[in-house]
Amino acid sequence: MNHASALEHIRHTSGKRLAILAHHYESDDIVCHADILGDSLELARKINGLDAEYIVFCGVHFMAETAAILTRPGQQVYFPDLSAGCVMANMIPPQLVEAVLLRLRQEGARIIPLTYVNSPAAVKALCGRYGGSVCTSANAATMLAWALGQGDGVLFLPDANLGRNTAQALDLPASEQRVLDVRQAGERVAPADAATRLYLWPGLCAVHAKFKSTHIQAVRSADPAARILVHPECAPDVVNLADGAGSTSYLIQQTAAAQAGAHLVIGTEYNLVQRLARRYPDKDIRPLRKALCSNMAKITPAKLLHTLQTLDTGAPVLVSEDIAAPARLALQRMLAVCG
Ligand code: 13P
Ligand code: SF4
Repeated sequence: MNHASALEHIRHTSGKRLAILAHHYESDDIVCHADILGDSLELARKINGLDAEYIVFCGVHFMAETAAILTRPGQQVYFPDLSAGCVMANMIPPQLVEAVLLRLRQEGARIIPLTYVNSPAAVKALCGRYGGSVCTSANAATMLAWALGQGDGVLFLPDANLGRNTAQALDLPASEQRVLDVRQAGERVAPADAATRLYLWPGLCAVHAKFKSTHIQAVRSADPAARILVHPECAPDVVNLADGAGSTSYLIQQTAAAQAGAHLVIGTEYNLVQRLARRYPDKDIRPLRKALCSNMAKITPAKLLHTLQTLDTGAPVLVSEDIAAPARLALQRMLAVCG
């Protein structure tokens, strides 16, 4: 039996005890076995409604960890390759984040930490403990507006591009934003000042950083009719030159809504763009350039099969309750604000 048939056989025999969740950036040979396919917000929202005892997560590690935090007693989350981490999530060591937050707060300003869901559980926990929350690319504007209303300023983690793009969407002037220098264990960070409302951690996504304004200019001159859509993890100059920017679900919706014959050039992870091109053969859909998330690609059919074959003996993703409880609080605040 090949991997695909063996996977389907286990899914069939496990019935409702098993749920396989996959992010849109996974390849087709994984996505075809998923019960639920979604972006990070959709997947986080779905966890609560799952009855499955075994939840297998195909994505990157922070997504499986988020699922583990949101599951009920009796449910376990399994992740096919523990080394599949998100490069951006790894840019915020929790101890450094706390040191920086305390430096910002040292003169009494109430700075609210807001972390992108692409973050370790311990950073989500810190956001829960300090009155903050979590956002995804789909709800970043709503959550940043919420966080700005909770205190004197916001520490936005870890994606400076998403932070700046979201601030622009909210008309927050650049003069009220400060990108932090977090070197030397955070010692370079000055206390919060009255003029700044948004403190940006200097993190980024190595995949979306590959898209440059020169790529957009090249498309514009070669194909003036093309509509260019990008993910908000791209740099602000790229977002500003594009015709639209938004989360994975936004990019999918815009592609679905485009008329037959439309030319769409999409700046996000390559697997998703290729899948959209195959799904809508009546539209001309191309990547802005080829940018693959190598960590998403670590989830292969062979590893997924091994995970399914060893569910009873394999190690589930565990988040200790001292981290899970405040991280859950931060996530629940997001789900409460965004519905
Ligand atoms: P979404 O929030 O759009 O699913 O994006 C997650 C991600 O990792 C994008 O690089
Ligand atoms: Fe992380 Fe970027 Fe990969 Fe998304 S595409 S999982 S942000 S490294």
